[in-house]
Amino acid sequence: MEYAAKITGTGSAFPRNRVSNTDISQKLALDGIETSDSWIRERTGIAERRMSMPGNSDEHNSSLGLEAALNALGMAGKTPLDIDQIIYSTCTPDTIIPSTACWLQHKLGAAKAWGMDLNAACSGFIYGLSIADQFIRTGQVKTSLVIGSEILSSIINWGDRSSCILFGDGAGAAIVERAPETSCHRILSTHLLSDGTLWKLLHIPAGGSALPMTPEMIPQNLNKIHMNGREIFKTAVRTLSSFALKALKKNQMTVDMLDWFIPHQANFRIIEAVAERLNLPMEKVLVNIDRYGNTSSATIPSMLDEAVRDGRIQKGQTVLLNAFGAGLTYGAILLRW
Ligand code: ACO
Repeated sequence: MEYAAKITGTGSAFPRNRVSNTDISQKLALDGIETSDSWIRERTGIAERRMSMPGNSDEHNSSLGLEAALNALGMAGKTPLDIDQIIYSTCTPDTIIPSTACWLQHKLGAAKAWGMDLNAACSGFIYGLSIADQFIRTGQVKTSLVIGSEILSSIINWGDRSSCILFGDGAGAAIVERAPETSCHRILSTHLLSDGTLWKLLHIPAGGSALPMTPEMIPQNLNKIHMNGREIFKTAVRTLSSFALKALKKNQMTVDMLDWFIPHQANFRIIEAVAERLNLPMEKVLVNIDRYGNTSSATIPSMLDEAVRDGRIQKGQTVLLNAFGAGLTYGAILLRW
């Protein structure tokens, strides 16, 4: 028997520590690297981001995930024991082993669930939600917890002014539940693709099993983000637009039928360019990059949570989630709230 999957609760969490553009320019100036609040605002749309305090266990990846999960459970009216499955999207796990999903399960007391980590970088929440959708539609899972949570401050390359200004920490969560196959409130379709040939556009060269870290690599920042921003920008605009159209076409819908568009928050200029290509008014585009920067797999669920809680997203509305990330990875999900 086939079912439908629908999101019944959302949550988010951010570290307390706000880091302004001026804070970053002062930090970089100590190493003779120049940037400014006006450059960062104009080129990215970011005014500030949150960064966890290293060593503060309240702000570990799984701790932010826990807070987001509890918020989502509260909205859905569920308890941790109702969860069958935890899909934890992150590229900055608490530890390599065990998975952050297991850390979260332990902290949450979700004793009846199985969990796993998923690394699709910034597309991770879309990939996770697609997996939950599959398990729920085939009847294997009733209630899934999907998380996107990152401590990107742990992998920021402070020697590269074009990337270190972009990233922040945060978490978003969704409770996804079984619904009747005919339900109109549901995930309508999911669309995923990866292109490993573009791996070089955003990668961390060392620290994995292919190139274990040595002390000599630390000054070269080989365990931190290396990025070709200009190329990612162009690819992102192209693929976000084409995936948006693909999702709409699959459901015999047109752009004007969309109520809300939630793109991955990587750069405000990317978001504007995609909206322009799609001929979508910016009033329908949800944006929080100004306050949080790029939190990778947390951008979409945290934006969704904010717009559900403040009442912008209303029952029966059509919402398009759309992401790209390192890999490169791409994905879109169309849903009716
Ligand atoms: N402050 C001041 N000047 C800077 C800074 C900075 N922080 N960063 C770069 N510049 C300079 C460059 O050195 C260059 O100077 P030059 O002309 O003298 O050579 C000039 O600004 C223009 O550089 P561009 O790279 O062309 O700047 P651009 O407008 O493309 O902005 C940026 C750079 C912000 C990185 C942009 O390309 C971008 O956002 N790309 C997408 C990045 C992205 O999305 N990454 C994550 C994707 S995947 C994931 O989310 C994990």
